[in-house]
Amino acid sequence: MVKYIAVAGKGGVGKTTFITLMLRQMIREKRKASILAVDADPNANLNEALGITVTFTISGLIEDNKNIKTLEDKTLKAPFLTELEQCVIKTPDFDFFAMGDPQGPGCYCYPNNILRMFMEALGNNYDFVLVDSEAGMEHISRLTIPRIDIMFVVSDSSARGIRTARRIHDLIRELHADIGEVYLVVTHTIENSLTSLADEIAQTGLQLIGDIPRDKLISQYDIMGKPLFDLPDEAISLKAVDKILQQANILKDL
Ligand SMILES: Nc1ncnc2c1ncn2[C@@H]1O[C@H](COP(=O)(O)OP(=O)(O)OP(=O)(O)O)[C@@H](O)[C@H]1O
Ligand SMILES: [Mg+2]
Repeated sequence: MVKYIAVAGKGGVGKTTFITLMLRQMIREKRKASILAVDADPNANLNEALGITVTFTISGLIEDNKNIKTLEDKTLKAPFLTELEQCVIKTPDFDFFAMGDPQGPGCYCYPNNILRMFMEALGNNYDFVLVDSEAGMEHISRLTIPRIDIMFVVSDSSARGIRTARRIHDLIRELHADIGEVYLVVTHTIENSLTSLADEIAQTGLQLIGDIPRDKLISQYDIMGKPLFDLPDEAISLKAVDKILQQANILKDL
């Protein structure tokens, strides 16, 4: 059965980077696993980290079809969902699509309903769906993801980042969201980060599944505008992500 993996956390803490490195290591370790990567951030940039050019987004196509009452008309619904499939970019190792930015004023129920149906229809074709999203918990409250099996709450090595992680954990509990496991990942760590943050981390009530050290190679790739997906095997960040995948038992059933 497909496993949905998602991230949440304060802005700029390293969510997109984590999803990118996780996808890279999953492909490296389990060549046969079929993986769909989804950029659910309206300010889409996962494609850049992955080295992919996006032509169509789901929201763009929905916008073009706004006057059609697609969802109420069964004869239109199926062809429309098929049309949306042109947004799915296929690479030899994984598939990808970007949700894009719902446009215009007013209620987003219509685009959100379509997004949810599309995710449900498409998701079952894969072993894993990795969802990158904007800061905060929008994607959970909007319910555009059918369910989440593993949620990584990502924080940088700051007390403020960890406190945001704590608020997100509180919100997950309040919303009674359909989430299997919830873990904390601390990024940008340096030597004593985890010891110094231990009290704050304990207060989140989250299980710390691992940390990703500050990696000079990531900074170099950023400066050169190179896709992080192409980081070399020896990158310390990749080794750390490998460990997290093992700790979270993500690849065990494949
Ligand atoms: N372990 C790390 N070492 C060094 N730099 C990192 C590390 N993790 C992330 N970065 C850098 O930090 C910046 C922010 O990372 P990223 O875009 O992944 O954050 P984000 O949480 O997805 O941000 P947003 O909330 O805007 O979507 C990027 O320039 C990224 O390359
Ligand atoms: Mg991001």
